[in-house]
Amino acid sequence: VTARTPLIAGNWKMNLDHLQSIAFVQKLAWSLKDAKHDYSAVEAVVFPPFTDLRSVQTLLDADKLQLGLGAQDLSAHDSGAYTGEISGAFLAKLDVTYVIVGHSERRTLHAEDDEVVAAKVAAAHRSGLVPVVCVGETAADLEEHGPSAVPVAQLKAALAQTPAGADIVVAYEPVWAIGSGTAATAEQAEQVCAALRDALREVHGAESAGATRILYGGSVKASNIAAFMREPNVDGALVGGASLDVDGFASIVRFPS
Ligand code: G3P
Repeated sequence: VTARTPLIAGNWKMNLDHLQSIAFVQKLAWSLKDAKHDYSAVEAVVFPPFTDLRSVQTLLDADKLQLGLGAQDLSAHDSGAYTGEISGAFLAKLDVTYVIVGHSERRTLHAEDDEVVAAKVAAAHRSGLVPVVCVGETAADLEEHGPSAVPVAQLKAALAQTPAGADIVVAYEPVWAIGSGTAATAEQAEQVCAALRDALREVHGAESAGATRILYGGSVKASNIAAFMREPNVDGALVGGASLDVDGFASIVRFPS
């Protein structure tokens, strides 16, 4: 069994401007320091809006804070006439490590299909970023296809241009659980995460599948994180709403192991 360091990721979505992000990250770092958080046991990463990245990077760098930095999206293209887009190279230059790709809000509100998601995964790798590939079914998908079919198909499609061994993180986010206050049960999350790991094994082999972290996302909070983390195929969480509260997010990062 390969050891997978648990990853707790905070997706701020379109919240916290750059001044607010500085105050937030400072408080979060103090809170984790006060609690003597063991950064080698759990990796904590924040995903601020693009306009906050420079401020947060400067802060992390100056204070040697051991928080990881991620972005919420990137362009599928490397450079050129793409007004409003942000390239992977721009993100890498700001010491961004992770980038969310294929979040359900991008798929639904910005019409990103599997092909775009696959192109963005490839673009992330070209810039040395680790894509956090989001997959998940809607309530209608669940009724029609059962729990795993849609997330597994989305994952396979997302990896269409990705060679085995390329560093990725997978995030299973059932659309019906996002922002709803009703999380999947730990058993439901485990069932789909196990199916996603099987799919990784099929596509990229056992070694890569064993080393890849698979997160659960959708109404994760301090009171339910421990149950998810007890499941063998859930290696962390992608947290939305609850990541905007310093103490709440710090408690999720310090989930009782
Ligand atoms: O990317 C995280 C997310 O979509 C889950 O959001 O608010 O349900 O934790 P939330």
